[in-house]
Amino acid sequence: MLILGIETSCDETGVALYESERGLLAHALHSQVKLHAGYGGVVPELASRDHVRKTLPLLREILRQADVEPSDIGGVAYTRGPGLIGALLVGAAIGRSLAWAWNVPAIGVHHMEGHLLAPMLEAEPPEFPFVALLVSGGHSLLVRVDRIGGYQILGESVDDAAGEAFDKTAKLLGLPYPGGPALAKLAEEGTPGRFKFPRPMTDRPGCDFSFSGLKTAAINAWRELEPTLENRADVARAFEEAVVETLVIKCRRALQATGLKRLVVAGGVGANRRLRARLLELAKERGGRVYYPRLEFCTDNGAMIAYAGWRRLVAGQTEGAAIEVMPRWPLDQLPSVA
Ligand code: KG4
Ligand code: ZN
Repeated sequence: MLILGIETSCDETGVALYESERGLLAHALHSQVKLHAGYGGVVPELASRDHVRKTLPLLREILRQADVEPSDIGGVAYTRGPGLIGALLVGAAIGRSLAWAWNVPAIGVHHMEGHLLAPMLEAEPPEFPFVALLVSGGHSLLVRVDRIGGYQILGESVDDAAGEAFDKTAKLLGLPYPGGPALAKLAEEGTPGRFKFPRPMTDRPGCDFSFSGLKTAAINAWRELEPTLENRADVARAFEEAVVETLVIKCRRALQATGLKRLVVAGGVGANRRLRARLLELAKERGGRVYYPRLEFCTDNGAMIAYAGWRRLVAGQTEGAAIEVMPRWPLDQLPSVA
């Protein structure tokens, strides 16, 4: 079965073709970074319009890449939520319309389930059950994953998501959008240990996160300083260390609480090098293993949506022809796949 995947939940248009026997055949991505950069963040209406412009040309490109015809496609998966409502509606309308025209089933995929399953596209995929750390611009979640749709939330952010904290702190430090990668790059040049920010919510039990106070701590420190590159890099370094260490502490707890050895890390912040290195150490310490998607599939992409949609479509799940999106959609409400 050949599945077309479409991702349009935020500021990247992603499309991909996934096939049961041969795996991922082709994928393409258009990032809207340049479009939003002048505004310092994503402008939802501009995002929607750009998805309208880019989705079909990208689809033509991957059909060419994979050397397949639309008539070869047996199902369509698109991101149904969570995300920006207008952006989601573009992908849902295109996905549903193509499926209707081609007379094939379609399914709306949960964006975070896409992230969660992205490591399955790699050569040595994780087996169930595992603990997943999902850290993106909109979510920070620790989840026990027993099967597709068998998700138990172990912890989540009570305020800002990890990526959001990176982005907001970067903006306050005067770094360009998108802030997360820019802050991480600057942190490389920072002196470790010059500042020490709190590790929020690590002094009480549980796996919930809070990052908004950390952002404030970083900004307060920065406001006291001369605005030099060195000072900025040192603050960035301390902020990154604090987020990473907090995430590592919570992952350790989640592994301890579940007794599981496998840890999956996904979502945009999963591209952070320091986080990856520290979680590798954690896995070694516990005699377990950590699984990541390749770097380009940590951030938003169509491949993860094609894959997640394929898993559900081959299990017989489909939906009616109505175009519906879910800007908010709790992960633990998804139906289970045996
Ligand atoms: O998963 P994603 O592409 O989009 C959402 O679903 O939100 O994640 C984007 C988030 C942004 O907040 C971005 O700043 C962050 O991931 N991010 C990073 C890095 N690369 C992307 N944060 C820290 N370090 C990075 N290297
Ligand atoms: Zn995402």
